[in-house]
Amino acid sequence: MVNFNNDFLVKEIKRRLSIINLIEGYTSIKKTGKGYVALCPFHDDHTPSMHVDEEKGLFHCFSCGAGGDMLGFYMRYNGLTFPEAVSDLAKRANITIEKSTPPVKGDSQTSNLFKLNSAVSGFYHRVLLESRKGGSARDYLEKRKIPSDVIEEFRLGYAPDGWDTLVKFLKKHNIPPSLAEKLGLVVKKQSGDGYYDRFRNRVIFPICNVEGKVIGFGGRRIKESDEPKYINSPESEIYHKRKNFYGLDSSKDHIRKNKRAIIVEGYTDFLSLFSAGIKNVVATLGTSLTRDHVVTLRRYTDRIVVVFDGDESGVKAAVRSLDIFLEEGLLPGVVILPEGSDPDSFLAEKGTEAFYKLIDEAPTLLDFYIDNTVNEYKNGAVTLNSGVKEIADVLVKVNDPILRSSYIRKTAEKLGLGENEVLSLVRRGKVHGQTGGVKTVKAHSNHEKLMLNILLTYPELSRVVAEEGWEGCVSNPDVMSILEEIIVKGVHDMSSLLLSFQGSAAQGLISEALMSSPGISDGGTASKMIMSCIKKLKLAKLDERLKSLRLSINDAVKNKDAELEKRLLTEYTDLRKQK
Ligand code: UTP
Ligand code: MN
Repeated sequence: MVNFNNDFLVKEIKRRLSIINLIEGYTSIKKTGKGYVALCPFHDDHTPSMHVDEEKGLFHCFSCGAGGDMLGFYMRYNGLTFPEAVSDLAKRANITIEKSTPPVKGDSQTSNLFKLNSAVSGFYHRVLLESRKGGSARDYLEKRKIPSDVIEEFRLGYAPDGWDTLVKFLKKHNIPPSLAEKLGLVVKKQSGDGYYDRFRNRVIFPICNVEGKVIGFGGRRIKESDEPKYINSPESEIYHKRKNFYGLDSSKDHIRKNKRAIIVEGYTDFLSLFSAGIKNVVATLGTSLTRDHVVTLRRYTDRIVVVFDGDESGVKAAVRSLDIFLEEGLLPGVVILPEGSDPDSFLAEKGTEAFYKLIDEAPTLLDFYIDNTVNEYKNGAVTLNSGVKEIADVLVKVNDPILRSSYIRKTAEKLGLGENEVLSLVRRGKVHGQTGGVKTVKAHSNHEKLMLNILLTYPELSRVVAEEGWEGCVSNPDVMSILEEIIVKGVHDMSSLLLSFQGSAAQGLISEALMSSPGISDGGTASKMIMSCIKKLKLAKLDERLKSLRLSINDAVKNKDAELEKRLLTEYTDLRKQK
């Protein structure tokens, strides 16, 4: 039995297993001149688009962008979390892990943060169930019909009304308040020193990651006059609202079994559905759906139904989420509840069967979008011309050609147009995407990727890049976070770098950069090339700024705002000089 740390364990797995053998178990793979190619199992692949590099231990699909190392492949294919994948593959590699060494990522700092969150969630839970102060919160939860087994399973709690309940708890247990401040549990007083509680007189919903560890909290007011209705933990080292769902740790097995996931917007919506036995559900955390959310959820299923409240913002949110799903090659169903309802109130009024009916009969998000736009045209809110263009712009993003033509037909029918008229707009959209404004964005992103590529091969260039002020010129947030890891945090070892992005869409960018060789022969050339990338990116940023300044100056002239015009002109001439 060996006592492995995580980094070492992953390296040992990679040393003992072959990525070729692993992938062979899931899809057909064959040797070509330089390496291996495989049918990509992550999208509907007809030509082998996935490249596998045995020496680097990486795979990358040049069609859908999926990529990473063998752990990434195994996690994604089987819908597993990182520790689950490590434990499976360690077994396969015949490595025995000592029980006391949980294979989870993290140093002692993050593990302290997890420990503290767990202690605090236990504390609030006991206050709710056992203390006299918890009475009003118990009444509140009863009124909301949340049963006691659900209160237990989700460890709901109560933060009493007062400024120092948690502060005192921390003191009693010798926990430094600065640690709790990192998690946003207490806030530093503005005057003098000391801290006060963030959550006061609120029902507490602990938020867990997929492994069931508490990463943050939501707190609902009990008194209607308290504002805002919900307070949530701020972003911290362990809490990222754009990546995590509420409840996924409890619902993931139900999602796998049901082969379907329901996404709702609120904590109480989640708990009502769960209490009613509809357990294949997750809730977003006070933010609209992100790409990371979709990437996380598709590990468990690609059949998703999104449920939005029956108000204007629900419709808007539905429309906004369409692009994200299409970019990920998914087409979810969508339910917009009747005006004024949310899943919680709908269930209470109409019952479980009625809710299931809505889910089962949900139109696709694309059908919903087209109908919505057609209605806008019929109400006179948009013209026929702009309506059909809007739809065509979305249809361009549908990858599946059969699906796309069926939607083109539907759109034409609904708007009383010929199929060819819609088709030609979609085609024009495609051409535009390749030649119009998108071109600069593409060139831009190619330079960002080249920069990443060079830095991954020559991490020693980090210092030079840091001095050049690279932050200002990178646009892609994923590229940005990878560069940050290399340049700022100094992670130069490939395996550790991939580890930092396990389960994230960013892994595909790393594998892409590592597997598309720019053919640089030496450090000197690499250094010159990376400087030229930064220069080009900076110039592109300058051009962008100059272009938008020209537009603003035109507006200022039109509006006869002489002062603004003068200010913008000064900036414009300065930038021109810089260029
Ligand atoms: P809603 O306003 O729809 O509340 O916000 P709700 O979920 O129906 O809550 P109840 O039934 O009144 O208790 C939906 C979600 O948006 C986030 C929360 O995650 C909430 O569950 N939210 C809402 C906030 O983060 N802050 C707020 O002030 C309000
Ligand atoms: Mn509600």
